[in-house]
Amino acid sequence: MDRRAWIAWCLLILSACDDGADPGLDAGPFDAGAPHVVLPFEPTDDTAAYCQGDDAAIEARVQALLEALTLEEKVSLMAGASTGLVEGAWLVPGIEEHGIPGLHMLDGPRGVSGFTSLHATTFPVAMLRGATWDPELEREVGAAMARELKASGADVLLAPTINILRHPRWGRAQETYSEDPMHMGEMGVAFVLGVQSEGVLASAKHFAANSIEDTRHDVDVTLDERTLREIYLPHFERVVRDAHVGSVMSAYNRVNGLYCDLNRHLLTDILKEEWGFAGFVESDWLLGTHGDGESVTAGLDIEMPDDFNFRNLRRAILNRELTEDDIDASARRILRAQLCFGLDARERVLDDPTMRETPEHLALARRVARRGIVLLKNEGGALPLDRAAATRLVVLGRNADVESIGDLGSSQVNPTRVITALDGLREAAPGLEILYIAGTPLPVSEESVVSSADAVIVVTGLQASDEGESDIGAGDRESLALAPDEVALIQRAAALNDRVIVVLEGGAAILVEDFEADVEAIVMAFYPGSEGGAALAEILFGDESPTGRLPFVWPRAEADLPPFDNTSGAVTYGYFHGYRHLMREGTASRYAFGHGLGYTTFAISNLVVDPAVTAGQPVELTVDVTNTGTRRGRATVQAYVAAVGSRVERAAEDLRAFAQVELDPDEMQTVTLRFDADDLRFWDETAAAWELEATEYELRVGQSAEAIEVSATLTAP
Ligand code: BGC
Repeated sequence: MDRRAWIAWCLLILSACDDGADPGLDAGPFDAGAPHVVLPFEPTDDTAAYCQGDDAAIEARVQALLEALTLEEKVSLMAGASTGLVEGAWLVPGIEEHGIPGLHMLDGPRGVSGFTSLHATTFPVAMLRGATWDPELEREVGAAMARELKASGADVLLAPTINILRHPRWGRAQETYSEDPMHMGEMGVAFVLGVQSEGVLASAKHFAANSIEDTRHDVDVTLDERTLREIYLPHFERVVRDAHVGSVMSAYNRVNGLYCDLNRHLLTDILKEEWGFAGFVESDWLLGTHGDGESVTAGLDIEMPDDFNFRNLRRAILNRELTEDDIDASARRILRAQLCFGLDARERVLDDPTMRETPEHLALARRVARRGIVLLKNEGGALPLDRAAATRLVVLGRNADVESIGDLGSSQVNPTRVITALDGLREAAPGLEILYIAGTPLPVSEESVVSSADAVIVVTGLQASDEGESDIGAGDRESLALAPDEVALIQRAAALNDRVIVVLEGGAAILVEDFEADVEAIVMAFYPGSEGGAALAEILFGDESPTGRLPFVWPRAEADLPPFDNTSGAVTYGYFHGYRHLMREGTASRYAFGHGLGYTTFAISNLVVDPAVTAGQPVELTVDVTNTGTRRGRATVQAYVAAVGSRVERAAEDLRAFAQVELDPDEMQTVTLRFDADDLRFWDETAAAWELEATEYELRVGQSAEAIEVSATLTAP
């Protein structure tokens, strides 16, 4: 959808949301009874940790502001100003005469929003970045995105998306990092720390259990408290506690009967009270707020992008559905965020193109793409391609010559240039004849060219028309299959040539059963960003050994996964999905969670760990990792735990720690991994509390969930 269509859509929704209230009711001064006294406030450890400045001084200033502002002014801080961008960002107004700068928000997870007219670095989508399994690198991405955001007039980045990939058909699979809460937490924390190191607020979204697009505005997700706590919330807790995320966006959907913006259990009991979140909660955009006073008392602080509902807050106070203390509590969070991140102390830069798409940021986007592209299959040394030994390559497939940077939803970015796969290959091997044959089916007249080529590269998969955010993008995928004409193209190529390399693009798994056995190599490139074609070529020509590892399990059939219902108004999320589900069912995966090949091999040995687990203490383990191949490469060591003899059903394996090491051939290094004993707990529904069970835990360390090389037994007393 282009910008004009988007605005038209917004206006349509706006009129649907207008409750027809007499504006007269909203005008004029308040008379809420006796003079209001702002409750005193003492900074806590949580507010101190949240604050990037002198928290005591800032809390005192916030208190003074709350005392100085009228009720009307405080309410004005609690909603966006317009359905459209104001000066290039979604605006939450400030109050100039009080030195309150307001908030300026922009998406999103793969770079500065394309809803602006600005060009920005288009990073690989988050799922590819998840496949790097490299939080340090993700921290760099967060910082780079934040620098570009600041150079685009904004101070709140509407990212990261940290919703669990429950099913690969989810249209926004590409926007998130993982199907696994532990892995998601590591990547999310890193991104938030990176963003916020630049004084930009991150916004963790969408809180919570938001993993279906087509029914996102209404679907009621039913799940038990244990599933919520162990699967859908841990990574949100991590970004709050370990990265002090500036803001959290509530989700559109319902959870256990209540829309997320009305869900006090989520927003207040868990997020604000249990986890000590000190920032503000903003709603998801159009149709994301369902109440006025009710939403505020549930824990929603800001309605975005406009005050469709919150214009009635004044009325809610007069009707005594809400108190001025409730307004103070939200206004305090909003003011704290602005002052703690120093937004009042810096000039907003509306547009500085010299700070976007810088050579450093483009190089980072390329490095990340190279690090996250996953080599799924490589038979008989089909890859890497040898530039010196080859003379002609044939390139086929619907994605070879397209700008494959992701969906057209809110996460879209507008780069100056995209290096397509074809561009990348041609630029990386100027001495080779690289022949591109567009379209399907393969013309019979081209068959001899295909059969005589040194290799055939089929770049295929999904496009923005196949998956994305709903309303403005394509929504959920219809199936996990690759388009039949593309499958036929691969099969024809495989019949003609014995070195066929399939490069898949998309947000998550695409079924490969119809051609897997016929082709020599398969690469998952996700949507690799504006530099993606160059990174892909570096991998295919072997300039780098691939390091990407799947952050989800790759099934053989859709029937192997839990059902995905994107038509029903109500769904139930069970405890098992992804690799845990396949292992529970005893179903073979096509590619395991954590799987990814390189051009070298590694062996893990000599697991050393203290078998006695003590509550509240870290569990530290070491393993020796040796490069057993002939090239330098990077291993990803993964530690899984099985709770043996638990009194509740647990997963056969849960990822609990991972680490990477780069080694030369024959080099060995001892690698240390760490997790908390508390990570072994389960949520006891009866006690409504976490419990570390006195039982045995099997620790399994390997290079994927299904490639375990060493193990040990741990015991909790
Ligand atoms: C999306 C959010 C996004 C917001 C603003 C919503 O439709 O769900 O992820 O941040 O729009 O663009």
